[in-house]
Amino acid sequence: MSAKTFQLNDSETGKTVDLEARPGTVGPGVLDVRSLYASTGKFTYDPGFAATASCESGITYIDGTKGLLMYRGYPVEQLAANSSFLEVCYLLLYGELPTGDELAKFDDTVRMHTMLNETMLRLFNGFHHDAHPMAMVAGVVGSMSAFYHDTTDIHDPRHRDIFAHRILAKMPTIAAAAYKHTMGQAFMYPRNDLNYAENLLHMFFAVPAESYEVDPVSAEALDLLFILHADHEQNCSTSTVRMAGSSGTNPYSAIAAGIAALWGPAHGGANEAVLNMLEHIGSVDRIEKYVAKAKDKDDPFRLMGFGHRVYKNHDPRATIIRGACHKVLEKIGRTDSPLFELALKLEEIALRDEYFIEKKLYPNVDFYSGIIYRALGIPTSMFTVMFAIARTVGWVSHWREMIVDPDTRIGRPRQLYIGPTARDYVDVDKR
Ligand code: SDX
Repeated sequence: MSAKTFQLNDSETGKTVDLEARPGTVGPGVLDVRSLYASTGKFTYDPGFAATASCESGITYIDGTKGLLMYRGYPVEQLAANSSFLEVCYLLLYGELPTGDELAKFDDTVRMHTMLNETMLRLFNGFHHDAHPMAMVAGVVGSMSAFYHDTTDIHDPRHRDIFAHRILAKMPTIAAAAYKHTMGQAFMYPRNDLNYAENLLHMFFAVPAESYEVDPVSAEALDLLFILHADHEQNCSTSTVRMAGSSGTNPYSAIAAGIAALWGPAHGGANEAVLNMLEHIGSVDRIEKYVAKAKDKDDPFRLMGFGHRVYKNHDPRATIIRGACHKVLEKIGRTDSPLFELALKLEEIALRDEYFIEKKLYPNVDFYSGIIYRALGIPTSMFTVMFAIARTVGWVSHWREMIVDPDTRIGRPRQLYIGPTARDYVDVDKR
């Protein structure tokens, strides 16, 4: 790609600084500011990195104005309609859609690695029954480096592949073990005759006392939600995985850092917060009051599931999930879902409101997903864990891309220092 020069005139020194401007294959180009400090003695300032490209990446592209999302160039709408989560995992990890044989081999490898080390299973007994599932999942994933230290050479492609398949395969099992621990129920082992989503539902809802038939509608809905949550460019948790990984730490610890970041209510924790918010609003006649609270600068209340750093038009994932809500609720015979009705009404009222229009606040991926999880029988406290299961492939794909990127250096931002200038110590009896 041809590079151009962007001239910066430093009024303080009268110097002109040339910055290389580089285009991407699509979307905004970048100004390479790596020489800026050396030539001007100044840093760039961008809290929250809203205008900063932290890396080059070929995995996911988002156009926030058009409401576009592509995984390796494939529009998410096409993958949602035609693909499976495991096929999307292969695409994100390896860059191309797999042939039939490649997919069969990948599927087989993942199925054959779903069980946990029995000692790892015993870690769950160390948590109180009311521990938040995200705390358990973050802790157990972080412990994986203690169990698999024989394959954590980040410079060995074979180790990177083993790590990728292993963590993808085990995340649903770890999630199910956390869920069963909160329920006080026996852990259900994975079954190799079930596909990814079916296996998760089996491990969640089967009990040893009787046989359990996975509902294909629920499995299909879950697979769709996993596809839609699989990756999203340099979001907070993915950037956290890249930052942690840039120090050379083992990949399991980097993923555990991503899980911790995802938990925040401003990020993946929003899906749990949306359901709690909808239940708190309770009825359509109380919506106006909460929309007013969301607009009040002095009120910390925000409409959870609304707004996005990048999407300033609709979030394509929310549109697909809203459509799926109707289908799933009908297919599982839940024609009435007061929460879904409330969510639809809240969206309608908010999108008519000047404040939301002016600030370009639309429902995001978290606004409707909880309605489906709830309809599948998954408790609210597990919603962000579901997000983590799906996003693991995105985290792993970005970690792998970073490890082999020749531009990768340890992440170490600078600051604008606004603290005290140098001063001398004063003895306590003179203060
Ligand atoms: C995810 O980055 C990703 O890609 C994330 C994600 C992914 O797939 O990885 O898409 C997943 O995290 C989706 C977002 C889930 N979070 C929520 O639904 C929580 C509610 N939303 C907000 O907290 C907020 O919209 C963020 C965190 C999503 C975005 O925050 P930004 O980009 O920093 O925007 P901002 O907080 O500066 O808001 C801009 C303005 C502010 O008003 P002013 O200061 O300009 O007057 O919009 C207001 C905000 O007060 N605003 C809201 C609002 N979101 C923003 N006002 C009311 N309700 C809201 N939800």
